Amino acid sequence: MSRSLATTETPQANSPLVQTLPASLDPARLPAHVAVIMDGNGRWARQRNLPRVMGHREGVEALKRTLRLCSDWGIGSLTAYAFSTENWSRPGEEVSFLMALFERVLARELEALEREQVRIRFLGELQQLPDGLQQRIADATERTAHNTGIHFNVCTNYGGRRELVLAARRLAEQVAAGQLDPAAIDENSFAAELHTAGEVDPDLLIRTSGEHRISNFLLWQLAYAELHITDVLWPDFNEAALTRALLDYQSRQRRFGGVHSPTP
Ligand code: IPE
Ligand code: IPE
Ligand code: MG
Repeated sequence: MSRSLATTETPQANSPLVQTLPASLDPARLPAHVAVIMDGNGRWARQRNLPRVMGHREGVEALKRTLRLCSDWGIGSLTAYAFSTENWSRPGEEVSFLMALFERVLARELEALEREQVRIRFLGELQQLPDGLQQRIADATERTAHNTGIHFNVCTNYGGRRELVLAARRLAEQVAAGQLDPAAIDENSFAAELHTAGEVDPDLLIRTSGEHRISNFLLWQLAYAELHITDVLWPDFNEAALTRALLDYQSRQRRFGGVHSPTP
């Protein structure tokens, strides 16, 4: 991916077009799908005596960095947790700021996403989001749907339990309508009703800011993900932090319930 995604930083005239994979990482053993719980924006701001929302603004820059790196390094999918079904309980001004920020960033970045072949999707109950944001989301999804690059999934008004309930409800409706035999419901048909339908499960979950919990993220999909927890606060997440996460991943032996597996 080129460096042309719009940025608030000074353009770096000498930066390479594509960022190369650090030599410490094995290109043959990268995760196909990285999921990230972008946590610690508020603490990042508090450490600087800034309002919490400044942390969210800076968090956008960290997300752009991460997307660019994942794309350049050949990672197939990046799924980021932007707003949970529980985050509505935050103060009204913070929620409004976040919704306006999502809308503004999407408007500003869409052209670059299109150009860079990013396929963006938003996962969650989108109909509860403000109308303007819903329109931007629909537009961005449609305009990037046929892009051939990284799959970039932004979980917005997303809750893992809610997603499971909605999937169960849709299957129940099909059974009630006589279109589906309950005995035909299996892991594959269930997964096909989730927001992530068609996406491979994450191989690696990164959570920033040192919290050791899942916070209702991808409850089904993370069944066998490797977990990497870092104390780095999300706005500080950068190439070095991503490299550490990927090195940690490459040091794991994945067994999927079996007894041996040569490589992750
Ligand atoms: C994560 O940062 C961003 C969102 C949940 C939207 P936080 O806002 O949770 O930051 P902390 O956890 O309070 O530091
Ligand atoms: C998880 O972070 C949700 C997002 C990153 C969007 P939270 O800050 O909401 O999670 P808790 O409250 O610490 O569990
Ligand atoms: Mg938090």
